[in-house]
Amino acid sequence: MRIPGIYKVFMVSLLGLLVSQNCDANPLIPNGWCPTNHDRQSSVGETPTDRESRVKTSFNQDWKFFLGDDPSAKNSLYNDSKWRKLTLPHDWSIEGKFDEKNPAKPEGGGLPTGIGWYRKTFTAPADFKNKLVTVEFDGVYKNSEVWVNGHYLGKRPYGYSSFAYEISRFLKSRNNIIAVKVDNSLQPDSRWYSGSGIYRNVWLTTTAKVAVAKWGTFVTTGTDGKVSIKTQIQNKTSKQQAAVLVHSIYDAKGKLILKTQAQNIKIDTSGLIVNSDTELKNPVLWSLKRPVQYKLVTEILQNNKPIDTYETKFGFRTFNFDAEKGFSLNGLPTKILGVCLHHDLGALGAAVNVRAMERQLEIMKAMGVNAIRTAHNPPAPEFLDLCDEMGFLVMDEAFDMWAKKKNKNDYHLNFPEWHKRDLEDMILRDRNHPSIILWSIGNEIREQFDSTGVALTKELVATVKNLDQSRPVISALTETDAKKNFIYQANALDIYGLNYNHKLYKDWPKNYPGVKFLATETTSALETRGFYDTADTIRRWPRDGKTKFTEGNSEWSASAYDNVSAYWGSTHEETWKAAKKYDHVSGLFVWTGFDYLGEPLPYPWPARSSYFGIVDLAGFSKDSYYMYQSEWTDKPVLHILPHWNWEAGKSVEVWAYYNQADEVELYLNGKSLGKKSKQDDDLHVQWNVSFAPGTLKAVSRKNGKEILVREVKTAGDPAKIELVADRKQIKADGKDLSFITVRILDKAGNVVPNADNLVDFKVEGAGFIAGVDNGFQASLEPFKASYRKAFHGLCLAILQATAKTGTIKLTATSAGLSSAVIEVRTNK
Ligand code: GAL
Repeated sequence: MRIPGIYKVFMVSLLGLLVSQNCDANPLIPNGWCPTNHDRQSSVGETPTDRESRVKTSFNQDWKFFLGDDPSAKNSLYNDSKWRKLTLPHDWSIEGKFDEKNPAKPEGGGLPTGIGWYRKTFTAPADFKNKLVTVEFDGVYKNSEVWVNGHYLGKRPYGYSSFAYEISRFLKSRNNIIAVKVDNSLQPDSRWYSGSGIYRNVWLTTTAKVAVAKWGTFVTTGTDGKVSIKTQIQNKTSKQQAAVLVHSIYDAKGKLILKTQAQNIKIDTSGLIVNSDTELKNPVLWSLKRPVQYKLVTEILQNNKPIDTYETKFGFRTFNFDAEKGFSLNGLPTKILGVCLHHDLGALGAAVNVRAMERQLEIMKAMGVNAIRTAHNPPAPEFLDLCDEMGFLVMDEAFDMWAKKKNKNDYHLNFPEWHKRDLEDMILRDRNHPSIILWSIGNEIREQFDSTGVALTKELVATVKNLDQSRPVISALTETDAKKNFIYQANALDIYGLNYNHKLYKDWPKNYPGVKFLATETTSALETRGFYDTADTIRRWPRDGKTKFTEGNSEWSASAYDNVSAYWGSTHEETWKAAKKYDHVSGLFVWTGFDYLGEPLPYPWPARSSYFGIVDLAGFSKDSYYMYQSEWTDKPVLHILPHWNWEAGKSVEVWAYYNQADEVELYLNGKSLGKKSKQDDDLHVQWNVSFAPGTLKAVSRKNGKEILVREVKTAGDPAKIELVADRKQIKADGKDLSFITVRILDKAGNVVPNADNLVDFKVEGAGFIAGVDNGFQASLEPFKASYRKAFHGLCLAILQATAKTGTIKLTATSAGLSSAVIEVRTNK
């Protein structure tokens, strides 16, 4: 959407006329986080407006898909009767077979890419000749091209941009054909798994010819209640239109609290921008604990009837970055406790599923995370809605490269022609989200080492500021010598974003006086859930940029003792100690919250997903999760590691993460092994224990009073399966998910720490298996299957509801083990 120039700007100052969900128990989130604890809004109430004036419907149903290229598929008369039927969002890569030879390489996840076609036959909305009909794609990876009834609508190379086409002039009443070609064949492309296909939602929106433009509102607020609304209105009729504009504001409960005076407007065929200022008395602020949002309903009326009704959610909050004191939200000093997340949803691939994203965020919230960096691209719009609703801060990132490549066929090929458009569209789409506090114009961009970086930085920052001056612009940098860093030298960024280099935090204010500072990416520690390997010194895998990696083990694993990191990174404890110490460090974004597909550093094939996550790909926490939880939340924590199955006499390091206590006492089979307390900046306590089978017990105490007790027992042979659902009641909407954790237990009910039994699943009733996983980074088993081997005692089956209400019954069997059954209800 190009605003400036073509729209007349009308400044109007409008005087304002003044005029709570049951939380399913979630046993799988450690110290479960429940949305109601944080006043989460399930929706901002319905409004009494004429909904016929703007109709937005899902366009996900009844598509046909062909994996391969057939250029004639763009034609209306093409015969697609043999194509596969499916519902979007869809990622064909995740359905494929892992193969080292796949062109995306292990870095890209080792799954197939290629070209695919989608087609759908649809009926035009009623009265489409007098309307604007727009098909909206939230994201297609990548190089999409779209035709309607054989008419070419255009292409969109960047796989993370949202885009739309107005199609009414190409429509007929019935049997319209939309055809979409997706080309992800040029590889290698991405440094991580991208997915392939129409992997985000598609919508069909019908409006009058005079209507609010796409992403056509921009609401900015102050904590004093000031609200500035910019409305962009389009007029696709052939003549100027007189109309009336009214804004209404509803509170979180759906109550109308303010309606602006009706404003007479005249909209030329070139369109109109209207600025409206109003004020709300004592607004409730959006905060991390109470992420309260308001809803703006914008109405355009003709003859007293609404011809368009457009809704925008927004919030009131202020924030500030200070070079000495760091970050504050609504005036409260608040360290940014963030994680970087890629967009894949593990076994579901890149295909957007709101519940899967919500589960990831719930798990992060329970760990104490308060911020997400959308590495390294704009996320699905629903992800930002969830961050608004759940109370996360967001660093919304545009690019991983500019004109200089990181991979042969990556976005650098499209950057010259498309970057302005892609960046503008990210800002226009996302700028009303209260969660977003930072715009990132790029991650570790090569131009920081090259003088072309100066002009490009200036241009990109100006592009952002032209559309939003209410948020700072940042870039995640690695060149630490400012004199040599051309992106920094452009002198256009609001905040210095430093990746890694935690040893530089200390002297930052001395070396960069007055420069605001955020650790945009940290850590890159490597861990495999349930795998423990002690070491006298911390391992750097790989050791440096030159030496071939040979230090790995035959289990393709990295120790979960937090003693391994990439050479450019640091362990979780090393990093957090440094970031915690200095107020001038506004916060940090740990690389990464979850393991993600691709970038399996440091291991070669068959490793195919990352080791960096605090949580594994299946959503099971690694032990470091509890270090963060003990530091970043006010929940009482006591967590001990490792498991208690070792060879007799082996000296085993036992660690405890704890908080809200002065000491932890460890017992083996009832005998005390001593009390320990964290000293100085310690983040855990530790004992060396000569292994004997039995029960290891830890007790945390404060002033001699017991706070928490944790036990880990030596497990016997695998005997039975246990199934635990994160939610036993889900929606019968064809999309909702229940994540079933499968545990392999001994006779006494202990998880068997090294169990790798193959589990077979049978599903009956109102659902199906959307994916299976076990979190092992080098497993080549498919994600779309009805079986999975356990890994360190656990695996996962993801159940998806159909649209019919009923019961989903899952039976899990494994040779030699007692089987298990679980039922999940699906309701309307
Ligand atoms: C960073 C990069 C990330 C990821 C990470 C792995 O330098 O920004 O995308 O590659 O390294 O350690």
